[in-house]
Amino acid sequence: MLTWRKQPRKGDYVMVNYELDDKVAIVTGAGSGIGLECARVLAASGARVVLADIDADAAASAAAGLPGQTHTTRVDTADPDSVDAMVAEAVQRFGGLHVIVNNAGIGGEALPVGDYSTDSWRRVLGVNLDGVFYCTRAAVRVMLDSGAGGSIINMASVLGAVGFPMSSAYAAAKHGVVGLTQNAALEYSGQGIRVNAVGPGFIRTPLLDANLGQDAMHALISQHPIGRLGTSAEVAELVGWLASDSASFVTGAYYPIDGGYLAR
Ligand SMILES: NC(=O)c1ccc[n+]([C@@H]2O[C@H](COP(=O)([O-])OP(=O)(O)OC[C@H]3O[C@@H](n4cnc5c(N)ncnc54)[C@H](O)[C@@H]3O)[C@@H](O)[C@H]2O)c1
Repeated sequence: MLTWRKQPRKGDYVMVNYELDDKVAIVTGAGSGIGLECARVLAASGARVVLADIDADAAASAAAGLPGQTHTTRVDTADPDSVDAMVAEAVQRFGGLHVIVNNAGIGGEALPVGDYSTDSWRRVLGVNLDGVFYCTRAAVRVMLDSGAGGSIINMASVLGAVGFPMSSAYAAAKHGVVGLTQNAALEYSGQGIRVNAVGPGFIRTPLLDANLGQDAMHALISQHPIGRLGTSAEVAELVGWLASDSASFVTGAYYPIDGGYLAR
């Protein structure tokens, strides 16, 4: 049974303890935004967390603000050897792997398909889809070996369900993440490995700030019936629950967390 933490978070609500005391977790892209908040929720729930990021300094400063046992490492999730090394390092450091949050992602060019460059297409697909595949593959192998099962959580987007102008590579990658999630769930749920995807609406993070001006930001807000963008902490609460045994019957699912974006 989940318990409520005693101390309020910096926001206006109290975070749940997802009771991950015996678990080892990896979060990719943990140096910033949603990944950092996922690492915070997992660590605050008792997991030993490996914060992995292509920006090693960002991962290290993120870890410095977290409770419990953490470890940081540099990874380029678009590189399968780098991903395998990250997973091996986590197992070596903490003795296993039970949860992986495949969160690292990039935005790419804001151009229509006809103008989209091959390089940007390949880079976005390389990080946002190939990277999730490499991480899922490496995690599944370790989880099968241990026999202890696990929870794989893939960071998709509302753009894993619908399109968005000027975002063809990103939307294609995120739709791919949802398909990969469903397929891996079919293949491994019988062996205790749950695989789910999370579909955030637009969340105020450095990724969004780097890609949008003020006007575009206001236009985006108006597309969320709840009347605001989401926060990384809100997404992390869903991730914490999916990681926990309270979600023991949940696999192959795609969970929008989007302030009503997809309901329109
Ligand atoms: N912000 C949003 O509105 C939003 C909405 C839906 C989905 N998402 C998804 O959530 C995830 C996190 O996004 P965010 O907004 O927190 O972004 P962010 O830019 O704040 O953080 C992304 C992190 O990933 C790291 N990273 C980038 N490429 C990497 C690579 N190849 N290997 C390892 N690490 C890498 C970056 O260094 C950074 O620390 C992404 O997958 C993104 O697509 C974001």
